[in-house]
Amino acid sequence: MCGIFAYLNYLTPKSRHEVLDLLVNGLKRLEYRGYDSTGVAIDSSENKDIVMVKRCGKVKVLEDAIAEHFSGHEFDAPVMTHVGIAHTRWATHGVPCETNSHPQRSDEGNSFVVVHNGIVTNYKDVKTFLEKRGYVFESDTDTEVIAKLVHHLWKKHPGYSFRELVEQVIQQLEGAFAIAIKSKHFPGECVASRRGSPLLVGIKTKTRLSTDHIPILYGKDDKSPQTCEKEHRPHGQTRDLSVLPRNESTSEFMPLEGKEVEYFFASDASAVIEHTNRVIYLEDDDVAAVRDGALSIHRLKKCLDDPHAREITTLKMEIQQIMKGNYAYFMLKEIFEQPESVVNTMRGRVRFDTKTVVLGGIKDFIPEIKRCRRLMLIGCGTSYHSAVATRQLLEELTELPVMVELASDFLDRNTPIFRDDVCFFISQSGETADSLMALRYCKQRGALIVGITNTVGSSICRESHCGVHINAGPEIGVASTKAYTSQFISLVMFALVMSEDRLSLQQRRLEIIQALFKLPDQIRLVLKLDNQVQELAKDLYHHKSLLIMGRGYNFATCLEGALKVKELTYMHSEGIMAGELKHGPLALIDDRMPVMMIVLRDPVYVKCINALQQVTSRKGCPIIVCEEGDEETKSFSSRSLEIPRTVDCLQGILTVIPMQLLSYHIAVLRGCDVDCPRNLAKSVTVE
Ligand code: UD1
Ligand code: GLU
Ligand code: MG
Repeated sequence: MCGIFAYLNYLTPKSRHEVLDLLVNGLKRLEYRGYDSTGVAIDSSENKDIVMVKRCGKVKVLEDAIAEHFSGHEFDAPVMTHVGIAHTRWATHGVPCETNSHPQRSDEGNSFVVVHNGIVTNYKDVKTFLEKRGYVFESDTDTEVIAKLVHHLWKKHPGYSFRELVEQVIQQLEGAFAIAIKSKHFPGECVASRRGSPLLVGIKTKTRLSTDHIPILYGKDDKSPQTCEKEHRPHGQTRDLSVLPRNESTSEFMPLEGKEVEYFFASDASAVIEHTNRVIYLEDDDVAAVRDGALSIHRLKKCLDDPHAREITTLKMEIQQIMKGNYAYFMLKEIFEQPESVVNTMRGRVRFDTKTVVLGGIKDFIPEIKRCRRLMLIGCGTSYHSAVATRQLLEELTELPVMVELASDFLDRNTPIFRDDVCFFISQSGETADSLMALRYCKQRGALIVGITNTVGSSICRESHCGVHINAGPEIGVASTKAYTSQFISLVMFALVMSEDRLSLQQRRLEIIQALFKLPDQIRLVLKLDNQVQELAKDLYHHKSLLIMGRGYNFATCLEGALKVKELTYMHSEGIMAGELKHGPLALIDDRMPVMMIVLRDPVYVKCINALQQVTSRKGCPIIVCEEGDEETKSFSSRSLEIPRTVDCLQGILTVIPMQLLSYHIAVLRGCDVDCPRNLAKSVTVE
């Protein structure tokens, strides 16, 4: 979805009218990707100023606006060298309107203008950083921070080249982007880069190009760029492309001096193919820059000898500090961020007005997924729990068999996998070694691989055929919190997409979409329980053990709650399926054993009450998590936490939050390091 098209003509006379036609046509080729608003930026004829035209709605509307805006001969006069950038936007941050349309600008003078596809997940922190330096934001987009950050660095480091400025900027960005930037301070230059979102450069010359003419400047220790084959996939026209091989040697910058050349930057080859069939697909963290007619592609990663490394580190540290804000720990901040992070997961995907759900990352694979033999959800730790939490809904809405597997165990068993299996790999970091091994095992056997990751450009993301970025924003605390609720919601959205055309399921889907809408406010309400939870923690922290019981949609919360308690507090804790009580765990119950029970008004309510009675009749005095105002359930115990009512399949999101808070408070009371528990690492990259 959404698209970038930029055009640079070097020593190739073109009138601004021609440039605008070219840009608008480029956008038309990208229309199929879906968008809600459009915009272009070119040089004005009088001086070097940049003019922008932006419109809500279709490219046609923009085309008419351009016709109105640019008239007179000066637009027919040929210009030897010129840069124009254009965009179709699919709004994620801020409603579709002219101000939010791209290009976004650095200042009123349009010094730097940028078009962007993707989501900058740390934009709020960058924004705060820039606001402290006097920048005033005009749009609601995440994109605007890019334009303003380039401007800030340009003022601070007048000696930097345009490419160097952009290199610095992208190292501060988290999330996904494809960008093209133009500046009145660097006329005739264009810089583009990507991470996660596709971007390619098309090159048109009079004479046939030798690849030696496209110097690619790599960082010294990185000569093996990763290829991203999957993004070269279809929309038809790519067949005749001659994809230029990349020159891997650390060659010197070799301009095509004095030679006429035209460059096209686009999200998709379909916009370029009518001009040239010679393209280079950019890879994650490539920075492509055209200057004096020469293109150079610089690889950012691992540039250890980067002379600007210090600048980058100081900037990063300041932005991180802003990120942590007034919270004592990242984990606490991340727990409290959940009303926003769940919105970020649904952004641009769940349309509440039309009650529709689109997952751009797997849209094209849905027919294949619908034909599959079974769905397999594979993960470790918290990610595995998100699969347990959503399995029942997936079974209900896809009507397919759903298997949920721990990656390590799955590999130990040499589980049979077939070509018509669809395997989901869930991982916050996208680097979890066990999950990655399991992914390769399944891929080798021909299954379709779907990634559910929080980290754009991670191994799982690259090696999967398709997937969903959960867009929860960077998670720093080792114990996962907001990633869990976002993984949960991503899988729910998948279930909704799969059942889109099932008539008999429409009522159910509607009920879930409406509940998703209310979820952020309900999470806010649950977070208000914090003080109550803290009091409970005071009762619990000196105990040796905590049992957490529930069943149905809430069993996953028990497992996840117990995992949080274990990893943060080093206390023993166990999530127990309430239905299993009689088969063993009941023996643990006496008047001293701490127990929590989740008892909500859902289809298994009666069974939960049954379990509750078994516990209380053995003198157990559980802490009950129940629905707001459920006096009957509350009457079983002196201690309870009340959470708002939502649809059964989303309860798990609300019930897990008290568990996160509880483990946090117990950890603090026990003097444990909340953000870095002993013996654990954030991203488990060893088997
Ligand atoms: C995309 C943009 C998003 C933009 C939105 C609307 C990117 C990365 N995302 O989101 O910023 O707001 O369109 O225009 O540009 N993928 C995997 N494996 C994974 C995760 C993702 O292969 O584990 C692939 C997907 O199949 C897809 C791409 O990565 O091709 C982007 O995924 P995602 O961000 O989820 O797509 P959109 O929601 O469409
Ligand atoms: N996140 C950006 C915005 O909302 C870009 C969206 C897109 O990819 O078009 O403006
Ligand atoms: Mg983890």
